[in-house]
Amino acid sequence: MRFGYFDDERREYVITRPDTPLPWINYLGTDDYLGLISNTAGGYSFYRDARLRRLTRYRYNNAPLDVGGRYLYLRDDDSGAFWSPSWQPVQQEVEEYECRHGLGTTIIGSRSAGIRTETTYVVPLGETLEVWRTRLTNERETAARISLFSAVEWCLWDANDDATNFQRNYSIGEVEVEDGVIYHKTEYRERRDHFAWFACSEPLAGFDTQREAFLGPYRGWDRPVVVETGVAGDSLAHGWQPIGSHHVRLDLAPGETRDIVFALGYAENPPEAKFDPPGSQRIAKAGVRPVIERYRRSDEVERALTELRVHWDDLLGTFRVRTPNEHLDRMVNIWNAYQCMVTFNLSRSASLFESGIGRGMGFRDSNQDLLGFVHMVPERARQRILDISATQLPSGGAYHQYQPLTKRGNDAVGSGFNDDPAWLVLAVSAYLRETGDEAVLDEAVPFDNRPGSEVPLYEHLVRAVDYTLERLGPHGLPLIGRADWNDCLNLNCFSQTPGESFQTTENREGGAAESVFIAALFTLAAKEMTEIASRRGDQDVVDRCRQAEADMVAAVEAHGWDGAWFRRAYDYMGNVVGSAQNEEGQIFIEPQGLAVMAGIGLADGRAEQALASVRERLATTHGIVLLQPAFTRYYLELGEISTYPPGYKENAGIFCHTNPWVMIGEAIVGNGDGALDYYLRINPSAREAISDIHRCEPYVYAQMIAGGDAPTHGEAKNSWLTGTAAWNFVAATQWILGIRPERDGLRIDPSLPADWEGFSATRRLRGTRYHITVTKQRGSSGRVRSLVVDGRVVQGNVVPLPATAGGTIKVEAVIESA
Ligand code: GLC
Ligand code: GLC
Repeated sequence: MRFGYFDDERREYVITRPDTPLPWINYLGTDDYLGLISNTAGGYSFYRDARLRRLTRYRYNNAPLDVGGRYLYLRDDDSGAFWSPSWQPVQQEVEEYECRHGLGTTIIGSRSAGIRTETTYVVPLGETLEVWRTRLTNERETAARISLFSAVEWCLWDANDDATNFQRNYSIGEVEVEDGVIYHKTEYRERRDHFAWFACSEPLAGFDTQREAFLGPYRGWDRPVVVETGVAGDSLAHGWQPIGSHHVRLDLAPGETRDIVFALGYAENPPEAKFDPPGSQRIAKAGVRPVIERYRRSDEVERALTELRVHWDDLLGTFRVRTPNEHLDRMVNIWNAYQCMVTFNLSRSASLFESGIGRGMGFRDSNQDLLGFVHMVPERARQRILDISATQLPSGGAYHQYQPLTKRGNDAVGSGFNDDPAWLVLAVSAYLRETGDEAVLDEAVPFDNRPGSEVPLYEHLVRAVDYTLERLGPHGLPLIGRADWNDCLNLNCFSQTPGESFQTTENREGGAAESVFIAALFTLAAKEMTEIASRRGDQDVVDRCRQAEADMVAAVEAHGWDGAWFRRAYDYMGNVVGSAQNEEGQIFIEPQGLAVMAGIGLADGRAEQALASVRERLATTHGIVLLQPAFTRYYLELGEISTYPPGYKENAGIFCHTNPWVMIGEAIVGNGDGALDYYLRINPSAREAISDIHRCEPYVYAQMIAGGDAPTHGEAKNSWLTGTAAWNFVAATQWILGIRPERDGLRIDPSLPADWEGFSATRRLRGTRYHITVTKQRGSSGRVRSLVVDGRVVQGNVVPLPATAGGTIKVEAVIESA
C-alpha cells in the first residue's frame, strides 16, 4: 500500500494523505540553520547544534507521535469554523491534502471550506532563518473573511535542560514584541548574545507569546481558545512557556489569492552591543531588522527557492545515471544523494528517532558518512576531515563523538571503540581519490584539539594504523576494546546492573577479546595507507603496512575462518563468537562483507563460500539480517547485543548499514545479479509499494528493518540518519555500476545483472565531466577489459586523468564474458 508517489521531475515525494504510518519527515537548511519538518508541519529548528541552540520546542515520543511544529490555523470568521491546513494539530478533515517533500523544501497544501492553502517552507541559502510562504486562495463564489494564526513554541535554547529543569525554566522565559515582530530572548539578559525572532508580512490583528493565553487553560494545540474565538490575547510571556503567534485578518474576494509570509530566524549581537539603548534590557535590533524586512517579502521567497534549486542541480549533477532500474536511478540521482547530504549536516543528531539531545557527531559515523558526500562537496569534506582528526587522541585512538558547536571530542557515549581510528584512514583515502589533494596530508592538525600538539594529518593516519597494531590479542587479531562497528558487541563489559549503559560502563581489564571485523577493516585500511605512503615516498610506512596487512590476513585465515564463513570475534575468555560451535549467533554479517571487501579469501574460494553462507543463512526478502540464530536470552559476556529482543537492531535485525558491504562483496566476486538483488531488497523506493509494512519514509533509508525473528518482520525504524545512506550510495555507484575514482583516473568496473544491456552515467571528477556508456549483451555477465576514451582504445578499465582538467571526456566501455 502506498501513501503517495514519486514526482522525479520535481525531485519530490508527494504524500497524498496526512495519516502516514509514522510522521514522514524532511529537512530544511543546508548549513548553520537546520530544521526537521513532518508531513503535517511538525518538527523544530535549531542553529548548528540540535541540543545547545534549539529554537523551537518539540515533544518527543508523544501521543500523537508528532507534537510541536510550525503550525498554522485558519478560521472562517463568518462561521467560526477553524482548521489546520496541514491537518495537524486540529485534525479537522481537509480535502485534497498534499505534502511535497523536496530537496530542502516542503510544501503542504489542502482545501477546506472553499479556501485553498499552500505553504512552502524553506531556509534560504546562507541565512539563519526559515520562511513559510502561505498562499491562500478563495475558491468560493463569495467573499471570505478569514483569520490566519501562526504558532511556534520557543525552546529555552538547551533542549535537554528545556525538557527537564522546570523549577528554573518556568520563571525565565522572556520575549519582546516590536513592530509586529516577536522576539524570543530568554537568558539574553545574562550570558547569551543570541535571540530568535518571528515575523509576518502582514499588519497584525493581534499576537500571543504566552502559551496558556493562546491555548487556554487545559487545552491542547488542537483547539486553541484564541483560534476558537478569533481574538488574540496580545499576551506577553513572563516565565512559563513563551510562544510566538501572529493573528492576521484577511478579506478575500472570490477567486482572490494572497501570499502571507512568516519568517523565523536566529540572530546574534556582539556582546558589547547587545542592548539598545545601551544600559537598557531591550535587544539591539539594528543588525537584524534589514534581514527581517527582506524576508517578509514574497519575492524573496521565490528567489530563495530558485537559488536552492540551482544549488541542488549542481550537487546532484556531480553524478547522474540512467539504468534499466528506476529504483536505482531515483535513489542515486535524487534521494540517496540527498540523504547523504543530510547525514553530512546532521550526523546522528536530530530525527524522529534521534532526539537531538543525545548524540553529537560520531567519529566512525562521520568518517563513513563522508564516503557518500565527498564527490558533491569536496571542500567541505576536507574541512570535515580536519575537524574529525583534530579530535583524535595522541594514542591514535579516538573519542567516540564530538559536539558540532565546539568541535571538541568527549566521552559522553563511551570511548575505546577500537575500530574508530581505521575509519579515518578510509575517509581520507576516499577524499584523496576524489580530489587528488595531496596537500591535505601536510595540514597541521592537533590531537584532542590541544594547541601545540599539531602534526601533519599524515601522521594522524600513521598513528591510526599503529593504534591497531599496538593492540593485538593472542590470535594476532585486533583487540576489540569497548566494541567495534557493532556498538552492541561489548565483550569486556559484563554488565549486571539494570539500566547501566554498555557504552560507558567500566570495562573489565585483562581480557583478550578480539575482533575479526576490525581485522578485516584494518586490512582494508592498511592497503589504503600503503598507497598513501608510497605516493609520499615513505618507504618505511609502506613496508610496515604491507607486512601488517600480510600478518593480519594470515591471522584471519588461521583464526578467523570457521569453515564456511568468517568468525566474528573471540570473547574475554578467548571463546569464539560467530561460529558453528556457538548455540546462537553462529554467523554474523559484518565480517563476511568486510573481509571480501578487503580481498581476504578471494584467491582460495573462501570469499565465495562466505557469501554463499550469507545467502543461505542471513538473507530474507526484506534484507540481510545481522546474525543468526538470534540471541534468545541475555549473554553476560556479549553485552548489549543480546539485550534486544530477537529480530531487532543488532540482535538479528536487518541492520541496513551492513547490507551494502555484502552487495560490494558480491560485486567484487562478479555476481552482479546477487548485488542488485540485495540492493533492491532494502532500496526504499523499491519498498514503496509495501509502505504499510515498511512504515518509514519510502524515499530514504532507515537504519533498521525488523528481521525474520521479529513479529513485525519488514517494519523499518530509525530513518534518515544512518551510515546506510553513504554505504548504499557507494555500493550502487562504485561497485554495481563500478564507477570509482582512483588516484590516477576513473575506474569503470561494473558488475551488472545478466539481464541488463548496460547503462549510461555522467560523473564530474576534479573539474572534468565524464560521459560514460557501458554496454553488454543481455544474458551475459563479465567485466570491462578495455575502454574507448574519446575514440581511442585504452587497455584495462581505468580512464586516465586528462593532462588539463575541465571539458568533457567520452568513455565507452564494453563488458565481455571471461
Ligand atoms: C549506529 C551507530 C554506529 C554503529 C551502528 C552499529 O548506527 O551510529 O556507530 O556502528 O549503530 O552498532
Ligand atoms: C548504536 C546502536 C544501538 C545502541 C546505541 C547505543 O547506535 O545502533 O543499538 O543502542 O548504539 O548503545
